[in-house]
Amino acid sequence: MKEKLLKIKEEALAQISKSQTLEQLNEVRVSQLGKKGALTEILKGMKDVSAEERPKIGQLVNETRAEIEAVLEEARKKMEAIVMEAKLAQETIDVTLPAKTMKVGHMHPNTRALEEVENIFIGMGYEVVEGPDVERDYYNFEALNIPADHPAKDEQDTFYISGDILLRTQTSSTQVHEMEKGKLPIRMIAPGRVFRSDEVDATHSPSFHQIEGLVIDKNITFADLKGTLSVFAKELFGEDTKVKFRPHHFPFTEPSAEMDVSCFKCGGKGCRFCKGEGWIEILGCGMVHPHVLEMSKIDPEEYVGFAFGVGLERIALLKYEIDDMRLLYENDVRFLDQF
Ligand code: DAH
Repeated sequence: MKEKLLKIKEEALAQISKSQTLEQLNEVRVSQLGKKGALTEILKGMKDVSAEERPKIGQLVNETRAEIEAVLEEARKKMEAIVMEAKLAQETIDVTLPAKTMKVGHMHPNTRALEEVENIFIGMGYEVVEGPDVERDYYNFEALNIPADHPAKDEQDTFYISGDILLRTQTSSTQVHEMEKGKLPIRMIAPGRVFRSDEVDATHSPSFHQIEGLVIDKNITFADLKGTLSVFAKELFGEDTKVKFRPHHFPFTEPSAEMDVSCFKCGGKGCRFCKGEGWIEILGCGMVHPHVLEMSKIDPEEYVGFAFGVGLERIALLKYEIDDMRLLYENDVRFLDQF
């Protein structure tokens, strides 16, 4: 038995010293020490050994196992060190190679303009809300005082999903959703995408963005509207910006106006930018029509309000001096990188 063990040990050590890879070392471990290995075979034969010999043989088997394991372990460590060294030698870093740069994107001019507008109104205590792009005729037209036969419906032709369901033509529909919630007072802006069946050109697109504003409270007057929107204009275009209100017509406001800002390029003298006018049209606004309040279950004897609607692209084009709206949608990074 002793000789057998000695032979196993010699055989194992010989195999270890011949091994050239970690896999080969592992094969030695399996064939010598594993479940079907030579040493295990010996242990299986223990039943034929006499009772007094058994402990001695058992001890010898364990010693042999320990010796083989120790040599195996040492060989494994050496082998691993060699492998690691080879790997390091192969992976030397050439610090003179140019660095890989990560291209970091940045905000789209529309998004930047929107954040700026939002921050101005948040600063004045407004809440930012959103309404759905797909609307019922009621929210987009009817509840805004635009009945089925109203000519304003022609100007805002859109994409119909069914006779009653359409892509909204104006964020004004959000006014109705907010009023229907029944929580007063309201002080909100609602940015979002709107749709019209317009041909694409430098100033038109079938899909663009607006920012709606609505304030409803007691004792609100046209002076509140003027004060609020003039602060907005100054913060957006500069402290020296003047505003001018021209009477206009919108079905959902009465009285209604369009607001112009003094040209921030020439200060109002007239230049190429403002087409010699000195003024630039910027938004529509007015006092919420009593009929609109009534339809959304608000008592016009008790509550009054003002509303306004701004085109987001118009602001982005003006602020960043871009002269063609299509550039905003083409997503050419060579163009976008400039902002
Ligand atoms: N919804 C109007 C449009 O798309 C813009 C507008 C005008 C909104 C006056 C308003 C407003 O809230 O009071 O042309």
